[in-house]
Amino acid sequence: MTGRKKKFEDVIIDTDPGHDDAMALMLALKSQIFKVHAITTVAGNSGIENTTRNVRFILKLLEREDIPVYSGAKKPLKRELVTAVVHGKSGLEGIDPKNPAKLTNNAVSKIISIVKENPGKITLITLGPLTNIAKAIKQNPRVMRKLKAIVMMGGAIRVAGNMSRVAEFNIFVDPEAADIVMGFPVKKAIIPLDACNHVVMQPSDFAKITNQSLAIPIKKMIKPYIANTLKVEGINGALMYDPLTVYYLINPKASKTKEMNVVVKTKGELAGMTAASKKEPANVTVVERTSAKQFKEDFINILSL
Ligand code: RIB
Ligand code: CA
Repeated sequence: MTGRKKKFEDVIIDTDPGHDDAMALMLALKSQIFKVHAITTVAGNSGIENTTRNVRFILKLLEREDIPVYSGAKKPLKRELVTAVVHGKSGLEGIDPKNPAKLTNNAVSKIISIVKENPGKITLITLGPLTNIAKAIKQNPRVMRKLKAIVMMGGAIRVAGNMSRVAEFNIFVDPEAADIVMGFPVKKAIIPLDACNHVVMQPSDFAKITNQSLAIPIKKMIKPYIANTLKVEGINGALMYDPLTVYYLINPKASKTKEMNVVVKTKGELAGMTAASKKEPANVTVVERTSAKQFKEDFINILSL
């Protein structure tokens, strides 16, 4: 793997599993370059019970139940929750975990306390709607300024949205939260649809994963994920939005980026739009493209460890 970082990255992962979130958690934990202080859950792809249950399932599968799980927002700041279709009723169709969700309802306070205890060290990786992050910023902006960075899957810059003409799902679900986060003065990066749409994996790619403890459940879950994606998006393959977000931290050299000024629209039909320009001051690093070949190779190799 070229350009892979050697150093340890202290992270909190905020997520709404979701098939691609599940594979992002596998990639993050098998890569061995992250110290995961906590995983926080948010409603998005499915309800908070399901997303929290699914995180617990994935951690058990990875034998990493040592990582604390804190559940968070049941719904966006102001809007009703809109869930995704491609992940099925359970949020992880094909596996449909039955383990208890064990909600703790303390994601926001835990994010704040971990950042407070580790000033300047924590990178927040967000894979779902930004509701928990916005709540933490509103509750304690002084502490949240001590974040090292926020790396978000979200947005659509030069391409159409996947929830409306202009809006990508994570931003569409809670545009008010995304607006708060995008305007918050800490180092930020977004991995938008522009960098994800061309990275599509097939069952034959996943079949190259030699670690059967992951290959077998992945084979079960990607069948409905691909079938639903074909039905909803007309794409015949697995879109890897969230794994690409984790991968940006694993191998930044595989991505082309641009410093841009991005604002989130929150009103009317444009709600959820991430309007980007080159005007100063830039407020976010936008990942414009990631090498599909390098990503697939590294994804398969890391999950085969
Ligand atoms: O638009 C893609 C994003 O929305 C991904 O994070 C996917 O998991 C869903 O949350
Ligand atoms: Ca997600």
